[in-house]
Amino acid sequence: MNTPIPLLVFAGSTREQSWNRKLAGAVGAIASAEGAQVTRLELADFDVPLYNADLEAKGTPRDVIRLKEIFHAHPAWIVCSPEYNGSYTGLLKNTIDWVSSPVKGDPQWGSGTKAFAGKVVGLMSTSPGALGGVRSLGHLAPLLMNLQAWVAPKQFAMPRAMEAFDPDGRLSNEAHRTAVHGVIEQVLWAARRFA
Ligand SMILES: Cc1cc2nc3c(=O)[nH]c(=O)nc-3n(C[C@H](O)[C@H](O)[C@H](O)COP(=O)(O)O)c2cc1C
Repeated sequence: MNTPIPLLVFAGSTREQSWNRKLAGAVGAIASAEGAQVTRLELADFDVPLYNADLEAKGTPRDVIRLKEIFHAHPAWIVCSPEYNGSYTGLLKNTIDWVSSPVKGDPQWGSGTKAFAGKVVGLMSTSPGALGGVRSLGHLAPLLMNLQAWVAPKQFAMPRAMEAFDPDGRLSNEAHRTAVHGVIEQVLWAARRFA
């Protein structure tokens, strides 16, 4: 039997009723059922200020180091990205900027790409709109590749988020479940081969 792959699942939104957090929950449940060892990360649980190099010079926040450790510990990730103005959110950018910034004087985190390099990342999005936030993924992919992550070719953008979930937060549409399953499967497949 295959050793379960640690899979990190998180959304680029901290909004309480976030559709992308809901999607991340559904993804986590499906991936767990497929035997992945899922960690559901909530960015709201981390106290991360807006990136500012002057602030950083006084010391990288403890929660940024925690995020570096969590990202680094997971060979496979699924990111559920909301779309703001045709791109990903400031929250995602700020998080990635902090996590990719080398920690001066710390040999463990001297490389900015350490937490990203070699990770297999599946991208998903959802929005109330007809395009499901797909344009955010087109911007997020090169950002992650620039940090040496491997972005899975299969992606999924789910339109009309308000119609997509049942009252228990499960995806109610078979085609959506199949698409989510396809991304998860590809991410785990690649991460297993990289391991
Ligand atoms: C500043 C801003 C810009 C937005 N731009 C887009 C957009 O370009 N495309 C889109 O589909 N939805 C857009 N939306 C709507 C978001 O998709 C919607 O608010 C969504 O619920 C956000 O994701 P969340 O529910 O995971 O927080 C925008 C929302 C905001 C606040």
